[in-house]
Amino acid sequence: MTTGLAKTFSEFRLGGVRLKNRIVMAPLTRQCAEADGTPTDEMAAYYARRARGGLGMIITEGTFENDELGCAAYLNQPGIATPRHVEGWRKVTEAVHAHGVPIILQLMHGGRVSDPRCLHKGEQAVTASDTQSPGWVLYTDTDEEKHNRGITGDWPKVTFPPARALTKAEISRLADGFAEGAARAVEAGFDGVEIHGANGYLLYQFIHPKTNLRNDEYGGSAENNVRFAKLVCERVRKAIGPDKIITLRLSQDGVDDFTGAWPGGLSYARAVGKALADAEADALHWSSFAWKDNRASDGATPIPHVLREASGKPVIVNGGISEGAHAEEVLNSGAGDLVAVGRPLFAHPDWPHIIRSGEAYDWTPFNRRYVIKPPNDLAMAYPSDLPRLEWNPDLSQRRKAGWMN
Ligand SMILES: Cc1cc2nc3c(=O)[nH]c(=O)nc-3n(C[C@H](O)[C@H](O)[C@H](O)COP(=O)(O)O)c2cc1C
Repeated sequence: MTTGLAKTFSEFRLGGVRLKNRIVMAPLTRQCAEADGTPTDEMAAYYARRARGGLGMIITEGTFENDELGCAAYLNQPGIATPRHVEGWRKVTEAVHAHGVPIILQLMHGGRVSDPRCLHKGEQAVTASDTQSPGWVLYTDTDEEKHNRGITGDWPKVTFPPARALTKAEISRLADGFAEGAARAVEAGFDGVEIHGANGYLLYQFIHPKTNLRNDEYGGSAENNVRFAKLVCERVRKAIGPDKIITLRLSQDGVDDFTGAWPGGLSYARAVGKALADAEADALHWSSFAWKDNRASDGATPIPHVLREASGKPVIVNGGISEGAHAEEVLNSGAGDLVAVGRPLFAHPDWPHIIRSGEAYDWTPFNRRYVIKPPNDLAMAYPSDLPRLEWNPDLSQRRKAGWMN
């Protein structure tokens, strides 16, 4: 092993589950499920390939938990809403577990940034307060990708119609929807779930003061803004029990606000962390594109560091970690307990083995093409964790043909 990566390759206990190292695959949407949201065999192969690459844990792409109130956010996004979805995901969890790697499912609701084509006819998108997203550019915005997905005409930027505020009864119903999705995830073999409270989607729209203008108990302060996310964690915990993992993902920026920052900076982060101290989550997960970039005017401490201190919970740190030394820095600086790696794993499924080997590697910069069709092996593989087969070279000792019958 490369010297200096001792912490990265040390074990960690997350909730009731042992991770063999501190490297987690970040959730990465690919929009490669069947049209009804059923995960495909290709997805099982994709995740298993990355499990073989030496990860400590995998978090799946964002998945819709039901077909209510504009939950599904993307065309060809996977779901965990039907028995067919459960069967599809079971193939994924079995393929990943064959490599001894735990996998949790990311549950999400798109809120006001759900692709309008996913809404039912006449349905209005829902969010924290009556607001409208400024829109954003989907990953499917290149001509080649549009062609691959059969999209014709202009699709440079997704615009979203005005969204309406959820009622309290609907908030409760949606929290139940997360819990029902989590129960189905466990039925499909997952080791737990991640609740998506980041990146511009529904729970983020409640947590971020810019999009939450409510003045009931679900808005107006850090404590109120995280109340919906906490309710979701609570209902999910009831549904899946104490031994399964629950993580809660947070961020300042979102898909329709890439440079977004929390008004209030570190003091808001501290208040969010404190309010989440008693949440039913085993860890918080900081999502960003550069984990040290806190965008705050009241100090330079990275936000995950503040969340970790204020909540007392383990933190998964994500954003721009592309070398072993970056992972080690996160872990040794006290900013987090685990690192989540996203874009490098599209093109380099063996990323953990690569950094551990310390060998020079032909890095492939991120390309949106890999979201759809990752270049699997790049002619190199680091199968250091393949299980050793017990086989006897003495042919006379081999099992007879047909021994399986
Ligand atoms: C193509 C693509 C799809 C993504 N899909 C998701 C997703 O489904 N859920 C999520 O929470 N974050 C998603 N993200 C954000 C990543 O998890 C991660 O935060 C981001 O890529 C920064 O980490 P990195 O520097 O390690 O890539 C996505 C990012 C990319 C580039």
